[in-house]
Amino acid sequence: MTIKACVFDAYGTLFDVAAAAREAARDPAFAPLRDLWPQVARDWRLKQLQYTWLRAVADAHCDFWQVTQDGLDWALDSANLADPALRERLLALYWELSPFPEVPQVLATLKARGFQTAILSNGSPAMLDGAVQSAGLGDVLDDVLSVQSVGVFKPHASVYQLAVDRFDCPPDQILFVSSNGWDAAGGAGFGFRTVWVNRMAEPIDRLPWRPTEILTDLTEIPDLAGRF
Ligand code: LAC
Repeated sequence: MTIKACVFDAYGTLFDVAAAAREAARDPAFAPLRDLWPQVARDWRLKQLQYTWLRAVADAHCDFWQVTQDGLDWALDSANLADPALRERLLALYWELSPFPEVPQVLATLKARGFQTAILSNGSPAMLDGAVQSAGLGDVLDDVLSVQSVGVFKPHASVYQLAVDRFDCPPDQILFVSSNGWDAAGGAGFGFRTVWVNRMAEPIDRLPWRPTEILTDLTEIPDLAGRF
């Protein structure tokens, strides 16, 4: 077995980032969100990520919670939905995002087969702790690694190095799994074996690196990890 640890991106990979807007849209108090929630969810995520990349190149790091709020403010403004109560509700929901349905079983199977497991995320330790606890995943994760300790966002190499240092192995003994094409590509460039979880059937990112494998959800990860 050459893979020692399976390391997962958090948002969009283990946790469904669209769940916050989808759930708030069911609340009659936020009726205007009912038709617009897919747009809000998409813009919120895109702006949140853009701000991480811009802050990384501009050497202006901040807590992921800051870019999460900034991205939401842009998305609500763009949809003409700026409303303090809605903003507060969406942000509260972000601390307890649902995991994708296969996540608990996949992590439990990896642990049962002797793999180490971890999250490696832009999220702050507090945000990640909230998501892990609310999803009940604490027992099937060996560690939760946050960019906070290196002070720059993905795809900076020092973020991926956190996993190498934690598991004390070469990068190719780590299977890095991300639903973000640019993150899977960044991890591949660093030297990880990588899986891009392409849940939305998106085109592949045109970057200098390609993921080792492409899947549509996480179900096959334990078998794949055993095949390397
Ligand atoms: C993360 C974002 C990129 O969890 O999804 O790091």
